[in-house]
Amino acid sequence: MITLRSVLYILAFALFIYGLMGLTGPRTAVRGNAIAAAGMVVAVVATLLTPGLGNWWLIALGLVLGSVIGVPAARRVKMTAMPQMVALFNGVGGGAVALTAWVEFRETAGFQGEPAFVSVSTLFAAIIGSVSFWGSLVAFGKLQEIVPGRPITVGRLQLPLNVLLLAGAVGCAVAIGLGGNAEWLLVALLVLAGVAGIAVVLPIGGADMPVVVSLLNASTGLSAAAAGLALSNTAMIVAGMLVGASGSILTDQMAKAMNRSIPSIVAGGFGGGATTAPAVTGGSVRAVSAADVAIQLAYAGQVIVVPGYGMAVAQAQHAVQDMAKLLTDRGVAVDYAIHPVAGRMPGHMNVLLAEADVPYEQLKEMDEINDEFARTDVALVIGANDVTNPAARSDPNSPIYGMPILNVDQAKAVIVLKRSMRAGFAGVDNPLYTDPKTTMLFGDAKSSVREVVEELKAL
Ligand code: TAP
Repeated sequence: MITLRSVLYILAFALFIYGLMGLTGPRTAVRGNAIAAAGMVVAVVATLLTPGLGNWWLIALGLVLGSVIGVPAARRVKMTAMPQMVALFNGVGGGAVALTAWVEFRETAGFQGEPAFVSVSTLFAAIIGSVSFWGSLVAFGKLQEIVPGRPITVGRLQLPLNVLLLAGAVGCAVAIGLGGNAEWLLVALLVLAGVAGIAVVLPIGGADMPVVVSLLNASTGLSAAAAGLALSNTAMIVAGMLVGASGSILTDQMAKAMNRSIPSIVAGGFGGGATTAPAVTGGSVRAVSAADVAIQLAYAGQVIVVPGYGMAVAQAQHAVQDMAKLLTDRGVAVDYAIHPVAGRMPGHMNVLLAEADVPYEQLKEMDEINDEFARTDVALVIGANDVTNPAARSDPNSPIYGMPILNVDQAKAVIVLKRSMRAGFAGVDNPLYTDPKTTMLFGDAKSSVREVVEELKAL
């Protein structure tokens, strides 16, 4: 039967899909996000129209609390802290799904008289939701550096332990499915799945955390879809499947761009976070002044800017755009080379540079621009490190060996802007810095670029 609710649900998921389409490009992303958010408002209203819904005060309290916490947090979060924000919000989603499953268990007195698909999908949602909640909290802790970024493991017993925990949770689910309706079974299921979530994420190093967050995000989506199935809530099924599918594709793309397989990431052990990284050793490094950099850039025919995480930290994108504008006004061809995992999240550089009004045509993806470096006079690396590391091509012993990189070292000259000789996210040395054609301008990227801008104006 067609009801107002079902019409609203159709409208909601049409808005989700339309919004998601907008997220495929930086120009339409903000609008796409707003459209999907409007879809979520419609879905919430439709759910509130469910007959027999009570506890209006509790619902209002929940909505107010969620908004009071969520809105300022989302407004204030720094772009570089976005992965941990996503981890936290995603975890809350998984937790909500697990709690919904618990409520469903209580309401139906352990699924008595319910069709099998209701119990199976609810129990699936409970396990994955709990794994996702606790796993995401650990991921948040690692990214926020509350929990050490290095792998924390119990050694060779880790895998059997994880399997045992998950098998225990599944065992509880089977017992409930076979008619066991004691509540402690569901509580044990949630606890075992939660401990499994913690045990799976703790051994994974900080360097792989953004991929793990994306993986957990995909699982939260699937668990929400399963809960939607049990509750006959179409908006939840569609939204959950959209998150599950897009999260899985994103996880796959991130893993490929870092040349890591998803099973090897989940098995853990790589990357301890950048803060403990060693300094580059051996070879000599040539430091130059902002005036030298300005002269080299001004008299080049073609310059490729390579932005990285350091540009995001320094918030140097506006200064970089000012510099690029001065150069193009002088007839220098300027392009930006965007590595798929530059920064700390997918599309990080595109978002920052779009925010600084860098013309979209100047942003070139890695595959599109990599051959161009050999013809380029100056590659200007601004706060990027791992994504320019030639060891990924040449050193089979390097932990990032095989990761596709930008061919910065093939440019006629390379200028690197960073604060020190510290390593990047993967914690490995970068031989680019001791290459004779490389010069380094040390300092905070924003101040350095501003100095270069002043020097360019004075030329
Ligand atoms: P990184 O390799 O992390 O290097 C960034 C460099 O920026 C650092 O060496 C740092 O050197 C410098 N820096 C930091 N703050 C700065 C500031 N205020 N001013 C100037 N320089 C500053 O970054 P990348 O090249 O963009 O590579 C990204 C890394 O993140 C890769 O290893 C990638 O695998 C990993 N990762 C990315 C993603 C996604 S989806 N983007 C997901 C997971 C992992 P100093 O400290 O000497 O200044």
